[in-house]
Amino acid sequence: MGSAEVGDDVLDGDPTVQRLERLGAEWLGKAGALYVPSGTMANQIAVGVWARGGDELIALADAHVLLFEAGAVGALHGLQSATVAGHNGAPDLDELRARIRPDFIHMPTTALISVEQTHMSSGGRVVPLASLQAIRELAREHQAPVHMDGARLANAVVASGTSARDWAACADSVSVCLSKGLGAPVGSLIAGDDEFLERARVVRKRLGGWMRQAGVIAAAGIVALESGVERLAEDHRLARELAALFDERAGFVSPPDQTETNLAIVRLVDFELAGQPMDAPTLAGLLGEEGIGVMALQADVLRFVCHRDVGPSDLERLSSALDAILGA
Ligand SMILES: Cc1ncc(COP(=O)(O)O)c(C=O)c1O
Repeated sequence: MGSAEVGDDVLDGDPTVQRLERLGAEWLGKAGALYVPSGTMANQIAVGVWARGGDELIALADAHVLLFEAGAVGALHGLQSATVAGHNGAPDLDELRARIRPDFIHMPTTALISVEQTHMSSGGRVVPLASLQAIRELAREHQAPVHMDGARLANAVVASGTSARDWAACADSVSVCLSKGLGAPVGSLIAGDDEFLERARVVRKRLGGWMRQAGVIAAAGIVALESGVERLAEDHRLARELAALFDERAGFVSPPDQTETNLAIVRLVDFELAGQPMDAPTLAGLLGEEGIGVMALQADVLRFVCHRDVGPSDLERLSSALDAILGA
């Protein structure tokens, strides 16, 4: 990062940003990519390109773009959303078909279908290729574009052996986070064809996401893409071990065979501490006091994340912290 060649990306271009964008576009098999500050902004740029106020976006009810982006599709773009149920991140195709609006002046236009790979809320599950291909086909029949929130697409690549290009071919635009498991401190990419990129540049400008001498941080993005992908297999292994560590203890359900990537979902079932029922936020707080960072995703669900800065010794620390909390 310290030796990155920089320029003004807003004026005549930053060579390191451009290199990262070319690298990302090539990895995804898209015409180009834009470097942006966050995964949220990458998704919202795609939404801004594909939809206009009054249009409708279809996604899983627990998709990040609807649930964890502070209402941005409504607040920034004036959209309404239609939600579908799914199984482990794979949207129900019949329900999706039923949600696509007919061409009728009284109804909103289905402007965009958004899918998520891997699916965060289900614990980083890999959405099957056949499911995404079927959605792409259905969307084509209705001239609706598909956006893929690929914040953790690299994890899906490593877990499945399917290339980023093959996953990305299921969508018209794809966002990818260089932070998260890939290990860059900051930054995401949003990729698509030339027409998409032309409009995406305008939306990025409107959102204030066009950065000047950004080569300093883009350099870390290059390292993330070049050296971070294969390494994810270690995170996946560790997440499975972490899941097993909880699954073996009474009061927790966390099947290792459902831990496909770097997220381990631990459900508290009738979990008690000193005879008192205990919820996930309270346990997360107790683990926090022991120096273990974990998010309570729901009242009875903890989400652990394995990434570049977490190793086997941290698992031992977690095990000891649990023993200490449980009085084992
Ligand atoms: C599936 C998914 N999409 C998008 C994002 C947003 O990324 P960021 O936190 O960089 O805005 C996240 C963040 O956790 C995510 O899990």
